[in-house]
Amino acid sequence: MKLKIKNISENYNPEEIGGWITGDGPVPCDILFVGEAPGKTEVEQGKPFVGMAGETFEGYLNLIGLSRDKVRITNTCFFRPIKKKVGKTGKISISNRPPKTSEVNLFKEVLDEEISLVNPKIIITLGNVPLKRLTEFQSIGECHGKLFFNETLNKNIFPMYHPSSLTYNRDPNFKIAYEEDWLKLKEALKTI
Ligand code: URA
Repeated sequence: MKLKIKNISENYNPEEIGGWITGDGPVPCDILFVGEAPGKTEVEQGKPFVGMAGETFEGYLNLIGLSRDKVRITNTCFFRPIKKKVGKTGKISISNRPPKTSEVNLFKEVLDEEISLVNPKIIITLGNVPLKRLTEFQSIGECHGKLFFNETLNKNIFPMYHPSSLTYNRDPNFKIAYEEDWLKLKEALKTI
């Protein structure tokens, strides 16, 4: 593990990183959610999905009869990818950005090891970043809300949209489809 951490710390640009966290929840655990990367609140509190997207996530988790203490939650990239912008007055503003492929690859072995230790019956990918990292699918639009068996991982996979997509996509039909995916997940969990 020491070697892996050293490899990570020598291969990123500290200017583009705003802290880091690891996964949260029981090990082993039957249900593993994999998100994209932490944001500001997650780094401050040291846990995944505790910011705005986390509130949405937890609301739906509770809706289908689950709670945070019953599931494991982790990310594809363990540090917070940031971009800095210097305003006209010289003030620096910091915002989140999606992780680059090279950054996702830094955590490949660590995430694989976490999956092996957690040994879940099902992995729920949240958004395109974990989907592309863990499956052959290229876009969440083609596979969300369905249960697949992934031969490479030897695991059930259930792809879902990222909870923050509700913030960006205000179409009421999208919200209905998103909620339906959670209800489909509830049904899928009964079959595994
Ligand atoms: N979004 C993610 O993908 N992961 C988090 O931990 C928080 C927000």
